[in-house]
Amino acid sequence: DGARPVEVAAPAETARRAKIGVYFATWWALNVIFNIYNKKVLNAFPYPWLTSTLSLAAGSAIMLASWATRIAEAPQTDLDFWKALSPVAIAHTIGHVAATVSMAKVAVSFTHIIKSGEPAFSVLVSRFFLGEHFPAPVYFSLLPIIGGCALAAVTELNFNMVGFMGAMISNLAFVVRTIFSKKGMKGKSVSGMNYYACLSIMSLVILLPFAIAMEGPKVWAAGWQKAVAEIGPNFVWWVAAQSVFYHLYNQVSYMSLDEISPLTFSIGNTMKRISVIVASIIIFQTPVQPINALGAAIAILGTFIYSQAKQ
Ligand code: 3PG
Repeated sequence: DGARPVEVAAPAETARRAKIGVYFATWWALNVIFNIYNKKVLNAFPYPWLTSTLSLAAGSAIMLASWATRIAEAPQTDLDFWKALSPVAIAHTIGHVAATVSMAKVAVSFTHIIKSGEPAFSVLVSRFFLGEHFPAPVYFSLLPIIGGCALAAVTELNFNMVGFMGAMISNLAFVVRTIFSKKGMKGKSVSGMNYYACLSIMSLVILLPFAIAMEGPKVWAAGWQKAVAEIGPNFVWWVAAQSVFYHLYNQVSYMSLDEISPLTFSIGNTMKRISVIVASIIIFQTPVQPINALGAAIAILGTFIYSQAKQ
């Protein structure tokens, strides 16, 4: 009867993989929609601090309403949970606003090419802050990632330092966020979905005063009038779409993170960027030079090599 556990385990494992596959596909699709609307909004209304705040506000509102109406069960949390969440929320806030500031300054594709270097940051943070050691092939696999991103950056037609640094800061912040999120979710009763909801609420509280200080209601009101005059009343729907889709893709990504390692998450995230880069180049008709595309391809290939080396 020794074979029975294997027979039972195999369909469960297949089902788990299928579930993760569905999460990944949904995460990537929702992310493409977010990126398109986010950039459409930023083109007409260049206030990344406000748009970042609105995405967190939309997520917080959706989740608070879902808990109140019992569509989703509210998590049982205590003070220790929120204390442990605070560094994660700071990292999420920084990573989110930095990426949005970046996308306000450069093409979406460029931000995501630089963000495809995230696995390199994962190794460096684990090595220097957590003291983890990796076999030599892992370090070597960083060369194409870093080299590819560097090649794409120096050949970018519309290079902008703020756009570049925003994407780099976002990489660092999100690696810290993912590693600590996984630690925070481990062995806890809070699901991936609710963990991300709490993260959204706390990040909103952190970001709001900074957004007001950096941009502020007067500037927003004037910019809003201008955007509505240019785009028409539909502009409101663009803002709603970028805010709601931001929450949805992140929620699904956290539902995956609940089931996978931070490494698999980072790799899935880099693969996601292929669809975002291609979709945004087509939709925004971004000019790309072959050498620029080559840099992006090398960086993404580097992630494949990295994932093999790390396993
Ligand atoms: C953000 O605004 O948080 C970024 O656009 C998201 O970056 P991600 O693709 O790493 O989630």
